[in-house]
Amino acid sequence: MMSNVRPEDMVRITTVDLANAFIEEQVKELRAQIGDKKVLLALSGGVDSSVVAALLIKAVGKQLTCVHVNHGLLRKGEPEQVVEVFRNQMKANLVYVDAVDRFLDKLAGVTDPEAKRKIIGAEFIRVFEEEARKLDGIKFLAQGTIYPDILESDGVKAHHNVGGLPEDLQFELVEPVKLLFKDEVRVVGKALGLPDNMVFRQPFPGPGLGVRCTGAITRDRLEAVRESDAILREEFAKNGLAGKVWQYFTVVPDYRSTGIRDGKRCWDWPVVIRAVNTTDAMTATVEDIPFSLMQHITDRILKEVKGVNRVLYDMTPKPVGTIEWE
Ligand code: XMP
Repeated sequence: MMSNVRPEDMVRITTVDLANAFIEEQVKELRAQIGDKKVLLALSGGVDSSVVAALLIKAVGKQLTCVHVNHGLLRKGEPEQVVEVFRNQMKANLVYVDAVDRFLDKLAGVTDPEAKRKIIGAEFIRVFEEEARKLDGIKFLAQGTIYPDILESDGVKAHHNVGGLPEDLQFELVEPVKLLFKDEVRVVGKALGLPDNMVFRQPFPGPGLGVRCTGAITRDRLEAVRESDAILREEFAKNGLAGKVWQYFTVVPDYRSTGIRDGKRCWDWPVVIRAVNTTDAMTATVEDIPFSLMQHITDRILKEVKGVNRVLYDMTPKPVGTIEWE
């Protein structure tokens, strides 16, 4: 089994050639470890679990079963992309679980941010456990653990980590990228042929859009977060900011303000834009977005997103404000 310590002389994977060498070696090791047994993977569609999925598909093909849980808190187009890339293009065994109603029902009326996180994490494990019980003969559980997760063992990778499974459902772990840093995982993902918008994706919290729809999550505000986030991402990509800004997203707080639309008063939600730069997420600065682009994004959100009558830009550095609103 691979040690949890990165050897000092391990070469940093910075090129496609180095990535290909890593892939070749891992495929050999995975085949040796797994033999003819079956492997299970919780595939969120984030960089790390996607790279692990692609490596395992290459190494053991249909012996891998990927479970993608759509908890309703993913960004626009993400569940569809997971199905397209892994089931349709890579021909993987993919179980797609539509758990949207289940999560949103559990979260209804819950306002406390930590309680929301706990519900999302616990429900995720429950759904995954139910799917795992339906499958026979699974011996291994693959995880997208990366080296920073080992270094900070209380890391925030709630989404990938299904370590909370019950006693009778314990599998041997397969963690092929656990000695890699994030930038190396991205190079490997690129070499494995994963799409750029999967490989170079900005960080996305495990509880997803749930922490950006503040207070008690409602379906209308959640849709407003998802639609406004999609507009922001599209405009940042078009204007060359996508690869430049570390993290950018929208928040829909749970209070309304008055507005006027088509000559009538309205009482709608605001959308807050957040765009920050950082190296370690411990401190962050606010991106200087061209004013004309801000105006354009504002116009689009007001025109295209239902139930929204105001757009704000969050100018707060970290500290004092955290990056997320909850
Ligand atoms: P904050 O808001 O604490 O965020 O400044 C720092 C970084 O961590 C991400 N984040 C999370 N990631 N589960 C995660 O997987 C979480 O509960 C969570 N909360 C914050 C946040 O997006 C930012 O990149």
